[in-house]
Amino acid sequence: MRILALVSLLTASSAFAAVDHDAAFKADIAPILQKSCVGCHQAKEGKKPKGGFDATSLANVVKGGKEAGAGITWGDISKSSLYKSCELGISNPDDDAAMPPKKKKDRVALTKEQLAKLKAFIEAK
Ligand code: HEC
Repeated sequence: MRILALVSLLTASSAFAAVDHDAAFKADIAPILQKSCVGCHQAKEGKKPKGGFDATSLANVVKGGKEAGAGITWGDISKSSLYKSCELGISNPDDDAAMPPKKKKDRVALTKEQLAKLKAFIEAK
């Protein structure tokens, strides 16, 4: 009985505290992408963003690019190309999927703190 009560309490409170993804994106995530990604990942001069991945709006970031699958799968960083590419950008810059690409000399890779923010954003409920 007690467990049941706890479960229903948790369910009720998490529904109540539902995250506002749009607000969190604007406040925490967009500034990071602006600095490290948007230079290549936005449509400009009639050209598509690199890899078909547009990093300028949450809707397009969630959708992802041409080949790497969804940019964000809520709750699952392993199915979020946004997260995976940034993680590789820190842990294994030689990997082809690492972002920003290593060949770009003035690349601004994410810091570990920024990567942690990204993870929290994707996993927040
Ligand atoms: C110097 C330009 C450049 C920068 C800066 C850059 N990218 Fe990319 N990105 C590319 C290119 C080119 C591709 C497509 C070819 C490839 O995979 O190398 C790509 C592909 C991707 C893809 C795969 C799209 C798909 O599904 O095919 C993702 C996801 C991605 N980038 C995320 C990011 C993120 C996140 C950042 C910032 C941390 C970033 N990129 C910064 C050039 C860039």
